[in-house]
Amino acid sequence: MGCGLDDLLRVDLDRLWQWHIDMAKLGATENGGVNRAALTSPDIELHWQLASWARERNFAVEIDDYGNQFMRRAGSDPNSPPLVSGSHSDTQPTGGRFDGISGVLAAVEAMQVIDEAEICTRHPIEAVIWNNEEGTRFRSCDMGSAVYVGDAPMKYVLTEVDQEGVSIETAVDALRRKVNWASVRKLGTPMAAYLELHIEQGPILETENVDIGIVTGIQGTRKFEIRVTGEEAHAGTTPQSDRQDAFLDAVNIVNALREVFHDPEDKVRFTIGRFEVSPGSLAVVPGRVLFTIDFRHPDDSILQLLGDQVAEVCRKEAIRCSVQIVETKSAQSTLFGSTVQDVVKESASQRDYSFKYLASGAGHDARHMNSFCPSGMVFVPCHKGISHNENEYASPESLAKGTQVVVDSLLMMDRII
Ligand code: GLV
Ligand code: MN
Ligand code: MN
Repeated sequence: MGCGLDDLLRVDLDRLWQWHIDMAKLGATENGGVNRAALTSPDIELHWQLASWARERNFAVEIDDYGNQFMRRAGSDPNSPPLVSGSHSDTQPTGGRFDGISGVLAAVEAMQVIDEAEICTRHPIEAVIWNNEEGTRFRSCDMGSAVYVGDAPMKYVLTEVDQEGVSIETAVDALRRKVNWASVRKLGTPMAAYLELHIEQGPILETENVDIGIVTGIQGTRKFEIRVTGEEAHAGTTPQSDRQDAFLDAVNIVNALREVFHDPEDKVRFTIGRFEVSPGSLAVVPGRVLFTIDFRHPDDSILQLLGDQVAEVCRKEAIRCSVQIVETKSAQSTLFGSTVQDVVKESASQRDYSFKYLASGAGHDARHMNSFCPSGMVFVPCHKGISHNENEYASPESLAKGTQVVVDSLLMMDRII
């Protein structure tokens, strides 16, 4: 690709790794992980630091109504939509140092490398930090990208509040106050293409000693919140036969669901990650239970068939209590088109990096971008596939190779798209 191989366009491994170290301080946990929920103060500080980096380079900074932040290096053609790369900065409560942020930093490093090489691209190039990808503070996952492309209506998400009752609008206001030089980005502003780097979150690339994963698609998912409501009662005086024990009905529901979702082939992913019993006191018969279901499968017909049984099973097993079922997310499997996959393959080949095509079990913002503009993903190996865990690890060398592919792919897309 000529100039793509130029030494000037080399990713700076030490700088990229230092960014990772610095970002991991924001929300650092005692065990070496990160707890950085969307638009909490460490996350806002992270947005501010990256916006400040952008300002020093005269890159424009924009924030949209959902709190997605864009940093843009101008292109030569004022009518060209941007080529966008990035990911998310929020984490799980006991998250690692790479899930999400590595994709943001790959985009940041790519912009810096291209800027320092004084390459004049036709399209603007943008780094994006999608808001609330993990869906741990505000319901539900991948919401920044979903709202941006119109897969989730802003009207609906504006009513969402976190566990302290803070609305997404208030959280975005706090971000805007801190990054007070950012201008307003209109949701749905067109993009020329989207490329997201992410750690694999599975063991394949490391086990097979492969540098680069070219992501073919993302398996589908359906997520639910189940509320079981009974009646609080005295644990010492209320006969078993008179109780409306929400915990007991919830346990029956969970056991029945486990049978429905049992899969001898082990392809179904079924997780109850949150299970809250209220009021949670030793001597009170529980009056309320809230639990979540995270269900994933690559085959959309199975996604539909099993997902559609959730409500029925809940109603059947809630013998003494009432039950409320809310489906918080439904997304069919995504297949990325060939445009970005081909560019990533070409970029990896030209650098003599080994590569492998693989599908993603985890969800990503690229899922929503795929219907909006040509989209794709680069995976880099992560140690033992450990993720959503404080011990998550990706090596500086792996991250640098993946980021190099992002640099080269952005420049290649600038020529062909
Ligand atoms: C993303 O973090 C997911 O849950 O797949
Ligand atoms: Mn992620
Ligand atoms: Mn994650």
